[in-house]
Amino acid sequence: MRDLPAHTLSIRAWAKVNLFLRVLGTRTDGYHGLDTVIVPVTLHDRLEIHALSDPRFRTLSLSVDVTGEPEIARAVPTGESNLVLRAATALAEAAGVRGFADFLLEKRIPAAAGLGGGSADAAATLRGLNGLWGCGLDDVALRGIGADVGSDVPALLAGGTVRASGRGEVIRQANAGAIEWVLVTFPFGVSTASAFRWWDEDGGVSGPDPAPLVDACGLFLRDGPGPALSALGPLLYNDLEEPVMRRHPEVREARDRLLAGGAVGAVMSGSGPSVAGIVLPGSDLDPAVEQDIGRLSGRAPLRVRSRAME
Ligand code: C5P
Repeated sequence: MRDLPAHTLSIRAWAKVNLFLRVLGTRTDGYHGLDTVIVPVTLHDRLEIHALSDPRFRTLSLSVDVTGEPEIARAVPTGESNLVLRAATALAEAAGVRGFADFLLEKRIPAAAGLGGGSADAAATLRGLNGLWGCGLDDVALRGIGADVGSDVPALLAGGTVRASGRGEVIRQANAGAIEWVLVTFPFGVSTASAFRWWDEDGGVSGPDPAPLVDACGLFLRDGPGPALSALGPLLYNDLEEPVMRRHPEVREARDRLLAGGAVGAVMSGSGPSVAGIVLPGSDLDPAVEQDIGRLSGRAPLRVRSRAME
């Protein structure tokens, strides 16, 4: 690894998938109540931060450059709506920082894909700047700032598998064993706000009690990954899936083909459109089906693994 200049950090921002996502209804603040298990996976962006806090500066100056595959990078805004800049601004306001932070964001996680890319970048920003700027904020304070930047930020700040409730900001540590995933991503995005609005428009159906699924997560240690994954696979669900699939039939197609090709479970992640399939350790999808899925989605499926807590 190359040496980094002073006041510089290079960190990875991990994508996530949701094992289940239960929408509990609309709240008075316009958000939706949720219950979900969020699993970080090995797909990641890389964020290089060069930053300094010093009261002798009179202002705060922030900049971000986005690089990476053009199709993925160009979907990320570089203005004020960029979640890295929003997170940095929120942290600077909370901690009274003056100085600068310059970011180089190398995108690999597609935007508006249901994989938490923007929230992961925001979480990495908060962690990285808290150190470089010497803010000294604890996890609870960072989580509070993160929740205002994006609903998935508190979960992704945690760094491991978590169960999230509230509108996403109430976090408990969870465990789901090691899982190998096939991720189907699409060249189009779905905004989180649209997916929740479609759920409302379609009558707001909430999925089943997730207790059996959470119990299946506990089988990894007792029964080993094979039986645990076979029990877990059919229980995956996402209440936003049907509303998104009704409007984007290729998402349903992708899920059905993953199951036909040998996945033991498959579900849309977050607000979509990406679909995550579980494969048994060391096994592959039927290669013909995998190619077929690549033609359908316009991109080769990605193989990723669940990430353990750091
Ligand atoms: O918090 P975040 O910016 O990720 O959310 C984007 C939009 O998604 C919100 O403005 C809201 O419309 C919707 N949302 C919701 N309920 C949640 C999370 C997000 O309705 N729990």
